[in-house]
Amino acid sequence: MFAAVALLVVHACSSGTGAADQTTGPGPGTPSVDTIALRVLADRRGLRIGSAVDRGFRFAGADGVKFRAVLAREFSVLTPENDMKHERIHPGRDVYRFEPADSLVAFAEANGMSVRGHTLVWHRQLATWLTSGSWTQAEAEALLVDHIAHVAGHYKGRVLAWDVVNEALADDGSLRAGFWLDHIGPDYIELAFRAARDADPGAMLFYNDYNIEGINAKSDSAYAMIRELRLKGVPIDGVGMQAHFQLGGVPSSLAANIARFTALGVKVHITELDIRIPLPSSAAQLQTQALNYRDVFNACLQTPGCDAIVLWGFTDRESWIPDSFSGWGEALPFDATYNPKPAYWSIYNLLSGR
Ligand code: XIL
Repeated sequence: MFAAVALLVVHACSSGTGAADQTTGPGPGTPSVDTIALRVLADRRGLRIGSAVDRGFRFAGADGVKFRAVLAREFSVLTPENDMKHERIHPGRDVYRFEPADSLVAFAEANGMSVRGHTLVWHRQLATWLTSGSWTQAEAEALLVDHIAHVAGHYKGRVLAWDVVNEALADDGSLRAGFWLDHIGPDYIELAFRAARDADPGAMLFYNDYNIEGINAKSDSAYAMIRELRLKGVPIDGVGMQAHFQLGGVPSSLAANIARFTALGVKVHITELDIRIPLPSSAAQLQTQALNYRDVFNACLQTPGCDAIVLWGFTDRESWIPDSFSGWGEALPFDATYNPKPAYWSIYNLLSGR
């Protein structure tokens, strides 16, 4: 009895200091050769961990050297943040510009990283030659298939997974209006998946969206859509949950939602994780962010079919958040000088079983 009480006390103490413990690393400063890289720890748990990459990859001088070193050391997946999008890779009707994405894919291969292709069919970042043209339905269908054949064909055998269709649903769960739906109708989705399978039979094909991380009207609709596509024999292998969260905004139903999708026979990837903080941040907020990151990793690790988590960047030096959400920032696990934040150590400690 006495021993049991003593044990309880010890537990109470350790859970009282748990938050601090879980967000502290083995030593101060940048992870070094003394610490194990996140990608190694993740691999031991059957998980891939990645980052989206854009301008930072091409930073000049020491900044770029540091950016690329941390990227290759810590991550096993690379997603081109913009370089594979329609407007960048297909700037004229008969003009493809593959070089920027090619250099990212080559870097990934040189460093033993997988590539997530992003994205073939989306209503945003479309080239103006496409959106300003006037097209019949048959022409639009041919343009969609042609784009996928060229882009997914160019990277055939070199991409782990493609976000084939991105953000096709509105928040109420209806199909989102946009160039492809407006010109082709709802069948553009299955047309895209079939064209992607034809172009690269070895790539896993994903539907990707935001606000489908928790159980809600939009994720219900994504679930119904993926179920329906699978029943029709449309080649779809996974669902990507973007996971652009606000501080404190990780849905409590995340694990249950991941599980219901994997029960359909598809994989789940967390594809664009970041957790933004209203600026200026406090030390307490950085601790909360660390616990939020841990919750996301925990939810994915609970379900075997969730086997990749990609962050939308890795350093606060380079993130879409300040440009897109005024007054918010510091959304990533490394600070602007590439030093690990509490969020880094909470992921590190979770993956290493501490
Ligand atoms: C964002 C990029 O991060 C920005 O650099 C760009 O200006 C706009 O697009 N959902 C997606 C991503 O699927 O492609 C978006 O990326 C972020 C939201």
